[in-house]
Amino acid sequence: MSFSSSSRRLCIAWVLLLCLCVLLCRVQGGSSRKLYIVYLGDVKHGHPDHVVASHHDMLTDLLGSKEESVASVVYNYKHGFSGFAAMLTLEQAKQLAEFPEVVRVHRSKTHTATTTRSWDFLGLDYQTPASGLLHGSNYGGDCVQKNYGEDVIIGVVDSGIWPESRSFSDEGYGPIPSRWKGKCEVGPDWGINNCSRKIIGARFYTAGVSDESLKIDSLSPRDRHGHGTHCASTAAGSAVEVASFNGLAQGVARGGAPRACIAVYKTLWVTDDGRATGSTVGLLAAIDDAIYDGVDVLSLSLNDMEENSFGALHAVQKGITVVYTSGNNGPRPQTVRNTSPWVITVAASKVDRSFPTVITLGNKHQVVGQSLYYQAKNSSGSSFTDLLFTNLPCTADVLNGTDVRGAILVCLPLPGDQDALTTFRTFAQAAQYVRNGGGSSLIFAQYTTDNLGITTLPVCQGIACVLVDLDTAEKIGKYMEVTSSPVAKIEPARTVTGKQILGATVASFSSRGPSHDYPDIIKPDIAAPGANILAAVGDSYEFMSGTSMAAPHVSGVVALLKALHPNWSPAAIKSAIITTAHVTDERGMPVLSEGLPRKTADPFDYGGGNINPNGAADPGLVYDIDARDYNKFFRCNIVRRTNVSCDATKLPANQLNLPSIAVSELKHPVTMWRTVKNVGEVDSVYHAEVHSPSGVRMEVEPLVLVFNSTNIVHSFKVKLSPMWKLQGDYTFGSITWRKDHKAVRIPIAARMTI
Ligand SMILES: *[C@@H]1O[C@H](CO)[C@@H](O)[C@H](O)[C@H]1NC(C)=O
Ligand SMILES: *[C@@H]1O[C@H](CO)[C@@H](O)[C@H](O)[C@H]1NC(C)=O
Ligand SMILES: *[C@@H]1O[C@H](CO)[C@@H](O)[C@H](O)[C@H]1NC(C)=O
Ligand SMILES: *[C@@H]1O[C@H](CO)[C@@H](O)[C@H](O)[C@H]1NC(C)=O
Ligand SMILES: *[C@@H]1O[C@H](CO)[C@@H](O)[C@H](O)[C@H]1NC(C)=O
Repeated sequence: MSFSSSSRRLCIAWVLLLCLCVLLCRVQGGSSRKLYIVYLGDVKHGHPDHVVASHHDMLTDLLGSKEESVASVVYNYKHGFSGFAAMLTLEQAKQLAEFPEVVRVHRSKTHTATTTRSWDFLGLDYQTPASGLLHGSNYGGDCVQKNYGEDVIIGVVDSGIWPESRSFSDEGYGPIPSRWKGKCEVGPDWGINNCSRKIIGARFYTAGVSDESLKIDSLSPRDRHGHGTHCASTAAGSAVEVASFNGLAQGVARGGAPRACIAVYKTLWVTDDGRATGSTVGLLAAIDDAIYDGVDVLSLSLNDMEENSFGALHAVQKGITVVYTSGNNGPRPQTVRNTSPWVITVAASKVDRSFPTVITLGNKHQVVGQSLYYQAKNSSGSSFTDLLFTNLPCTADVLNGTDVRGAILVCLPLPGDQDALTTFRTFAQAAQYVRNGGGSSLIFAQYTTDNLGITTLPVCQGIACVLVDLDTAEKIGKYMEVTSSPVAKIEPARTVTGKQILGATVASFSSRGPSHDYPDIIKPDIAAPGANILAAVGDSYEFMSGTSMAAPHVSGVVALLKALHPNWSPAAIKSAIITTAHVTDERGMPVLSEGLPRKTADPFDYGGGNINPNGAADPGLVYDIDARDYNKFFRCNIVRRTNVSCDATKLPANQLNLPSIAVSELKHPVTMWRTVKNVGEVDSVYHAEVHSPSGVRMEVEPLVLVFNSTNIVHSFKVKLSPMWKLQGDYTFGSITWRKDHKAVRIPIAARMTI
């Protein structure tokens, strides 16, 4: 009796303790629970509902109840790949990682849009004028493809879209492709009719996004930032709507696929400081949905984490080409991001002197700067006005009190090594001063307009802001020295169009290789225009710069190629783009790369070179890759916990049949194989042209490839041998298969080590 009562008391005490513990553990666990991504590999249970059930079974095992499992999951990944995102404690995450069916568990992080410094963050009103000033122009550029990407679906994972923009008119569009399975999610400012035959689907992803952002932004696919609309219209803006900014940028070649359909996946949300960021759990949900929905191309102008690269891997395995930005952390080496071998990583180039602005001095001499200065339609044209100049940099202190009424202020470069932000601030202060003081123009000199200072042209409302390099500033200075009342006249900027893209310079902000994660893969893959790109934002059109703007150019080209060659794999499409890229301009001068110092561009600046859409349409040969090889690469190099047998004696990256070769540690001779497939004229003979990286002997065998109707595929051997024993830097070469005028070129990078 006494025994039983004491045991009952003990039992009650235990229960109380247990309750307390559960309570405490909950409170504790609750405060330290974080969003985790649990990746389980391929989908193994036919119906998505079964996939979801399997996730909950697993979590129930761990958490103890179905309710807890359901409450903690924020996304189930169930179409393109299997996995889920859930609120877990560190301990729970660790336990899950030990489950045999779990490939990997990692924390959700923040991803950001890859535009460059925006003019707005300085608090200056550099918005473009009302859309009424815009006039349409014909779809410009060189693209000979006439299919315009019809029936191809580009998934744009970004900050949403502005459906009212003229760039997304669906006038004249046929029915939505029947394979489309996507959704049009509605919200307070987004009705079902906001989707159309142009914007065929729209979804948004809120998990892991800050409450602040959800308050500022719209809980719908609507773009409150501008980045997503800009990117979508660059990739697939309707042709007739390509507008100009007050007559500037008319007909600039932009290689988009104007008849392609757009599917919107909003994962980026406006932050209170005006950026666009999102959570990686949402990003993976968007990719999973896009695979299900049936997109052909995924365009991602954002910084993703390598640990999420399985999302793109599954997309590529389903035949979707995935295009990412390289990032804006150039020109320092090893800054390139999004470098998985299965994606196309895009660098940004800029057309030199794209908006030349003529300054006529009082002595009739003319010098040239760059600006986005335009003439109001009703104005009577430029006239000569006074030139003002101080011997000091144009900071607010120095300018204080200077009378700039009606005058052109000339600002000299800042002394020493100023960082870009200081240059930027000084410029902004000077522009503000001139505008507030009733001045007419600002001529702002930098050591070179193409280096680390202001690399994107500012739109200065009301005044002309002209950027000049030091030489030009000196010419103006000399004239001012010998003249008692110097004057000058600034003409509106002109647009240089077309062919210059051929030799466009790699922009200083564009992130550079080699890849931190995969030094034996050349990244970025390709460069495309990314500076001063005019595209839709809201109802208007604005200039933006960044690799964000470059990636959608490539997505557009991919759409054109898909329409032309529906059966090409993502690897074949990528190969066509890389092997046909321009490395010289029309005069045969090499493409340059901005930075200190400015130099000839190499594969770590631009991969294959500047994109050449017409060349890519007919590449002759392609380096194709079976998507299963990517899987093996992923299993052997990224997730080391694996069933796949990995051959440790081979350089892992070099096992892939990539249209490039990189050897980051060349100590001993290495031999690699590459395979090319003829997609051009059936009976063709190609000859190898071999440029060895300096210090390296590169042998290719055989040197001649003969294709006919039975021999469509050929392999060749590439042997790289170091010529000396030394600790070297990277050197670069190429292998080009030539037939008549056709050249199929791949870049080579090697670094000798001891
Ligand atoms: C989009 O939907 C909103 C809200 O339903 C509506 O006011 C707007 O006119 C629609 N825009 C278009 C282009 O259909
Ligand atoms: C041009 O038109 C705008 C708006 O209609 C007006 O504000 C401005 O004063 C005009 N400028 C000239 C030079 O007539
Ligand atoms: C300009 O100078 C005046 C007096 O010389 C001073 O009161 C004012 O604060 C200065 N303004 C700026 C922006 O430095
Ligand atoms: C690993 O291989 C074994 C036997 O080949 C197989 O039964 C198992 O399902 C595999 N595991 C995974 C995670 O693929
Ligand atoms: C293609 O070339 C191979 C090797 O030269 C030859 O054996 C084969 O007969 C050729 N096929 C045709 C259809 O000519």
